[in-house]
Amino acid sequence: MFELHRARPVAAVMAATAAAAATALLGAPTAEAVPQPVVGGTTTTTTAYPFMMQITDSSGNQFCGGTLVAAKKVVTAAHCMAGETASRIRVVGGRTYLNGTDGTVSKVSKIWVDPDYTDATNGDDVAVLTLSTSMPYTPASYVSSSQTGVYAAGTTARILGWGTTSENGSSSNQLRTATVPVVSDTSCRSAYGSDYVASDMVCAGYTSGGVDTCQGDSGGPLLVGGVLAGITSWGEGCAEAGYPGVYTRLATFSDLVTAQVQS
Ligand code: ARG
Repeated sequence: MFELHRARPVAAVMAATAAAAATALLGAPTAEAVPQPVVGGTTTTTTAYPFMMQITDSSGNQFCGGTLVAAKKVVTAAHCMAGETASRIRVVGGRTYLNGTDGTVSKVSKIWVDPDYTDATNGDDVAVLTLSTSMPYTPASYVSSSQTGVYAAGTTARILGWGTTSENGSSSNQLRTATVPVVSDTSCRSAYGSDYVASDMVCAGYTSGGVDTCQGDSGGPLLVGGVLAGITSWGEGCAEAGYPGVYTRLATFSDLVTAQVQS
């Protein structure tokens, strides 16, 4: 849904080009050569990740991801809910393929959006949906407010979604996944300047790019050790060298989410 467009300084473009060239020489994954999932990963299933939800319009068209955290509660991004009303959306669980008809479809009885949310680049990009129908799938656990160790630079994180498999590509019919390293606040700040709000966000991706979430993956999980630690939020393009993906730092919002999960 949301894509950050900005003019990049020439130096950054040159650095990106140099990094891409270095990556090609090293034979690391390149988004251009092999447009893949989530950009640069592998196909998977909702059997492997039963908490992975599609968020769709009332006709079943997927536009964001979400994570089941209780039988009737789904964590997603606030920006996914911009302009939406509960009656216009559905949550679909147990459906690996966008064109599938299997799984469980639920209506939404309530949309809670962090009251401080204005725009993904200002932070607070978290929402909790309450479902009308319980999902018969095992929910994910999510980080507590004190579990900030998951954001240590270099930590391996898993991303999931049906989003586009290259920056201007099309969505993946099958759920995809990849792993990316958590990026330090310092590096992320150098990439994004004041749009990076360290208290509310965490970045993940390779310096050389090539693996990332992309449009349509928003709202979906960033998992560390199988625990929900982030929410796909925004980025400059997708999988570009020097521009990691930006995720909601869920530990910051954990208590707010728990209040909604228990409501
Ligand atoms: N905002 C996008 C969405 O709504 C997700 C973008 C993630 N971008 C990135 N480079 N990681 O689907």
